[in-house]
Formats: sequence, structure tokens, C-alpha cells
Amino acid sequence: MIAQTSVLDGVPVVVENARPGDLDQLIAFAQKLSPASQQERFFAVLNADAVASEMRNEMTESRNLSLLARRARDGRVLGHALGAVTGRDRAEVAFTVADEARHHGVGTLLLRSLMTELRDRGVHHFEAVTQFDNRAMLRIFEDAGFRFSPELGCVEAHLDDPVP
Ligand SMILES: CC(C)(COP(=O)(O)OP(=O)(O)OC[C@H]1O[C@@H](n2cnc3c(N)ncnc32)[C@H](O)[C@@H]1OP(=O)(O)O)[C@@H](O)C(=O)NCCC(=O)NCCS
Repeated sequence: MIAQTSVLDGVPVVVENARPGDLDQLIAFAQKLSPASQQERFFAVLNADAVASEMRNEMTESRNLSLLARRARDGRVLGHALGAVTGRDRAEVAFTVADEARHHGVGTLLLRSLMTELRDRGVHHFEAVTQFDNRAMLRIFEDAGFRFSPELGCVEAHLDDPVP
């Protein structure tokens, strides 16, 4: 377990590394996302097979780190964080929280947990691409100290750890 905290109005939530045996649960979680959430996460609305294939690729790429946030009581998946290591000390990050679990701190918890885990693996440059109107995600990145570069129709968010 990476983190345990109460975010859902006092309901305990745990964050842990996703294991290969979690793939079916992760696919089911992602397939339940609303079209708007899919658009924000995948930059497209995907059919069920495409969602499954996307999650399978994310989980099986050896340089990727996947975290799951679960409701402690029953293990229900509430959110997923992806850290895709793209260089020696660099990773691209992406997050998804179940539509019905939003605005309770799960996304913030996942970002914090993912950055800690990635730093332990030597990552010190964090990047993400977000739709320019994705206020929830931009707010979370801003609170974490990310800076923004506007691109065509999207925003590139980045944070570089200070050189020790
Ligand atoms: C973006 C996303 C991950 C945010 O997840 P989330 O769990 O709602 O995020 P948080 O709850 O941590 O933060 C969102 C808001 O909740 C507030 N919040 C944080 N902790 C809270 C708590 N304990 N109780 C109530 N509200 C809280 C935050 O202040 C923030 O409010 P604001 O947007 O008004 O500033 C989620 O909306 C999502 O999955 N979107 C679709 C996919 C997506 O956009 N991915 C990004 C691709 S990089």
C-alpha cells in the first residue's frame, strides 16, 4: 500500500500499485467513464474494446507505473493514475477518477502518491497534456506547482524538481 487516507467525506481510501491481476477491474472502471471523461482522459470517445485495449497497453508497458485508488471498505476502484516513464528522469502522468467520486480529493491524492513513487524511481521531470478547459485537472496541477504552456487546443503541464 502506498497511501491510506480519508478523502470521500471521511471514507478511507487506499492507494496501491496496480498488479497484473487488477487489469479486469481497471478495464471495467475505465469502461464506465462518461463520454466527457473519456474525452478528457483519452482525447477521444472510445468504444468498450478500445478502452480495454488502451488500459491493457498502459498496464503491460514495462516502463509504466499504474496506481489504483480504492475504497478501503470493499476495494472498489475509484481512480487510476498512470506514470509513463519517457526518459531517464522524465515521466508523463495522467489521472482518472470515477465520475461519481469526483471533488473529494481522490485526484489530488493520486497525483501526490504517483509523484512520490516516480521520484523513488529517479523521475524529476513531470509532464502532462490536458484539454485547455479541463479546470479540475489544471487546478490540481497548479496546486502541485506545475507550470503551463498553451498548445493548440490543449495545455502542456510540467514540473521540474529543483536540482539538489
Ligand atoms: C481531473 C480529475 C482526475 C480530478 O479528480 P478529482 O478526484 O475530482 O480531483 P480532486 O477532488 O482532488 O480535486 C478536484 C476538486 O475537489 C476539491 N477537493 C479536494 N479535496 C477535497 C475534499 N476532501 N472534499 C471536497 N473537495 C475536495 C479540490 O479543491 C478541487 O476543487 P476545485 O476544482 O474547485 O479546485 C477527474 O475530474 C477526472 O477523472 N476527469 C476525467 C479524466 C481527466 O480529465 N484526466 C486528466 C488527464 S491528464
